[in-house]
Amino acid sequence: MSQQLSPEQLTALAKEFGTPLYVYHAEKIKEQYAKLAKAFSGSNVVFFYACKALTNVSVLKYIRSLGANVDCSSINEAKLALHAGFLPQQVLYTSNGIGFDEIEEAVKLGVNINIDSLSNLEKFGKKYGHNYPVGIRLRPNIMAGGNLKISTGHDKSKFGIPVDQLDKIIETVNRYSILITDLHIHTGSDIKDADVFVKGIEVLFDLIPHFKELRSVDLGGGFKVPYKKDDEEIDIDLLGKKVKEAFDSHPQARNLQIWFEPGKFLVSECGYFITQVNVMKETSATTFVSVNSGFNHLIRPMFYDSYHRIENISNPQGESKRYSVVGNICETDTFAWDRKLHEVREGDHLVFYNAGAYGFEMSSNFNSRLKPAEVMMKDGKPHLIRRRDNWDDLLKNQVEVIS
Ligand code: LLP
Repeated sequence: MSQQLSPEQLTALAKEFGTPLYVYHAEKIKEQYAKLAKAFSGSNVVFFYACKALTNVSVLKYIRSLGANVDCSSINEAKLALHAGFLPQQVLYTSNGIGFDEIEEAVKLGVNINIDSLSNLEKFGKKYGHNYPVGIRLRPNIMAGGNLKISTGHDKSKFGIPVDQLDKIIETVNRYSILITDLHIHTGSDIKDADVFVKGIEVLFDLIPHFKELRSVDLGGGFKVPYKKDDEEIDIDLLGKKVKEAFDSHPQARNLQIWFEPGKFLVSECGYFITQVNVMKETSATTFVSVNSGFNHLIRPMFYDSYHRIENISNPQGESKRYSVVGNICETDTFAWDRKLHEVREGDHLVFYNAGAYGFEMSSNFNSRLKPAEVMMKDGKPHLIRRRDNWDDLLKNQVEVIS
């Protein structure tokens, strides 16, 4: 039986900590990690949690305790990971479009690095030559992912060095004898089809013979999780089988480590976003339910047209009606249009499911509203892992020059 927090537990948390509130269920993260570990148990796989999905330090520490490594997308994420207790060799910094100074800093930290431009590869070679192992992020020219905004491997994407520039990569690597130990691709997020990864593997396999000192190939993240009721998770066991078959049957790949960078798969479903209804508004087009939040706290519906299941946990037996769930900020911030919910009244608590990944993490102080608190439920007990923003937080970096 899958780990889930009950409406009663969520209501109690809303009362104890106030709303809007992000809640993360530790045991659900553990369950997802166990699924991955089982699916790939036959292969030499290392998981690097893509922490851009959710960087709360307590979550990082928890995921570390499960045995995962961590993938970072900025130098500060790398520092957070070290702060959370990951060893430098457990930290991977997959950079994109960054200045060389960040790469130098990452080298000082001693973490693994994937370089994603010829320009930085050149600078890296000049400075470090063969002295620091490094990976290359490639753009495999594969279209994948739930929508274009989260597709990163196609032939118009900014990410990675295009595989069609292989000659230039090899020339640069040879000129400086750069110690290339990893080849990386990440094609997108919300990928349901295991064959997308197989396609990526085929692209990488063609490249392996050019790099004699490889230790790993990194297939990125992007495993789909179910957002809608009838959505399906990527068939992770099937993927595990296909990856094993591919690597076992390739003489030069057989001894390489296989790296993955799952973000959503680990932390999406563990997350609940609890809001409270401020205002009900009847109009000729729809009945609006305005909650005490907006895209300043959960931007995914407005940004990606993404779907989050919503439930009225205050009136689970209420009659089903259609509503449009919106926020309270001064811009259109529709969470759901024409959605069936149990009858909603002002003061009710509405829960948004699957809010763990890229929820709090993409929140902002737009409209000078305060960021929500975060709570981790672990072993049946709630722990406040980030206090709610307060008035001082809004002012803390401002320099008031006009008297
Ligand atoms: N590795 C790299 C290099 C990535 O760029 C990403 C995500 C991941 C791993 C993890 O992907 P995941 O397993 O979480 O799908 N904010 C969007 C998703 C953007 C993902 C960006 N890169 C959303 O809320 O759907």
